[in-house]
Amino acid sequence: MGAALGVLGGLMLAQAAGADDAPHPQQFQNWRLPAVVAGPVDNTTTPERVALGQRLFFDTHLSSDRSTACATCHDPAKGWSDGLPTAHGLNGKVLRRASPTVLNAAYNPLQMWDGRFVSLEEQVLGPMRSPDEMNTDIPGLVRFLRSDPVYQAQFARAYPQMPIDEQSVARAIAAFERTLLVTDTRFDRWLAGEPNVLSAAELRGLQVFMDPARGNCEVCHSAPNFTDNGFHNIGLASFGASDADPGRFAKKPVRSMQGAFKTPSLRGVTDTAPYFHDGSAATLRDVIEHYARGGDVKTNLSPNLKPLQLSTQEKDDLLAFLQSLAAPQRLAVMQASTVGQGAPP
Ligand code: HEC
Ligand code: HEC
Repeated sequence: MGAALGVLGGLMLAQAAGADDAPHPQQFQNWRLPAVVAGPVDNTTTPERVALGQRLFFDTHLSSDRSTACATCHDPAKGWSDGLPTAHGLNGKVLRRASPTVLNAAYNPLQMWDGRFVSLEEQVLGPMRSPDEMNTDIPGLVRFLRSDPVYQAQFARAYPQMPIDEQSVARAIAAFERTLLVTDTRFDRWLAGEPNVLSAAELRGLQVFMDPARGNCEVCHSAPNFTDNGFHNIGLASFGASDADPGRFAKKPVRSMQGAFKTPSLRGVTDTAPYFHDGSAATLRDVIEHYARGGDVKTNLSPNLKPLQLSTQEKDDLLAFLQSLAAPQRLAVMQASTVGQGAPP
């Protein structure tokens, strides 16, 4: 047995042992995440780059009116999101989509709900160039960074071969984001061999989550990061509107991508309510009810979205399992006050 066994093999084992038997960590070793994410060759992660990126992430100088930092919408105290149904941009403008957490974004092959950016470096420039988000005055920002002695010294240490410009800003922030990893939820500790960190209800919920005949969650929220890195239409009511968000279709115009959005990871999910790209589910219970009824709008619905036959007990257990994916507190307390001190999180 071991890592190669996979979920299917695990389920077969569980069945052979009797359906009520508790799951065993050996069946789920493919869910363990690498604890480090290497950066691209031209932006390998160093403590100097991470410290600089952390300072920039919390710095409102990145927005034209100095009101907004990355951390305004990706706030550590709010699960690195913002607690809003959809993001609020400059001058309070209500944007169309929810702010996802940046925790574990480093594992994503594609960024954004529609996957339009292929790297963290490329993504940084998105909100900076968006008139509704940061509307960064790039020449003004570069002037400020070059005139600030602390930034000058930090850039010189982090990127000695590069000028201070939007490219080095983007690289530093991406390097910082590559350290924002959740690999030690209680579920992960159970995987690593601490048998008592999951309750009986959480272990039952894990089985509901994996079981194609019950929760059927794993088909999309798959190992190791609770995502298949794919795009699916899960039947949200907002897709019924005449001006519905096309989602992935804007980037990949094939029918199945109409109203399809990226499967988010679920590590850290307890801190990022409300849920879905349109913020339409207030709580994790609402999410579970959405799946239980098989979605609302059936047009272009994913074939993997079917009404579920879940008992009240199974729904409670599923919720308990999702709660075992909470991010550890240390990731919530990082604040702007730690900025510029050179300490990686
Ligand atoms: C006004 C709020 C706002 C600000 C400011 C903002 N973001 Fe975001 N962020 C969002 C929203 C909304 C999305 C999703 C947008 C979409 O999918 O179209 C997003 C998506 C992301 C993602 C993709 C995560 C994933 O799982 O796909 C990353 C990474 C990210 N932002 C990092 C940053 C960084 C770095 C900055 C600062 C340079 C920043 N954001 C500034 C709201 C914001
Ligand atoms: C067909 C693939 C698919 C299946 C099956 C599926 N999900 Fe999802 N899940 C997604 C996608 C895609 C999203 C984002 C959809 C959106 O916002 O438009 C999502 C979003 C979520 C969210 C919200 C996360 C956030 O940050 O907003 C939670 C929680 C969730 N799913 C849990 C579950 C559970 C529990 C199950 C099983 C009962 C399940 N999912 C089954 C694909 C799936």
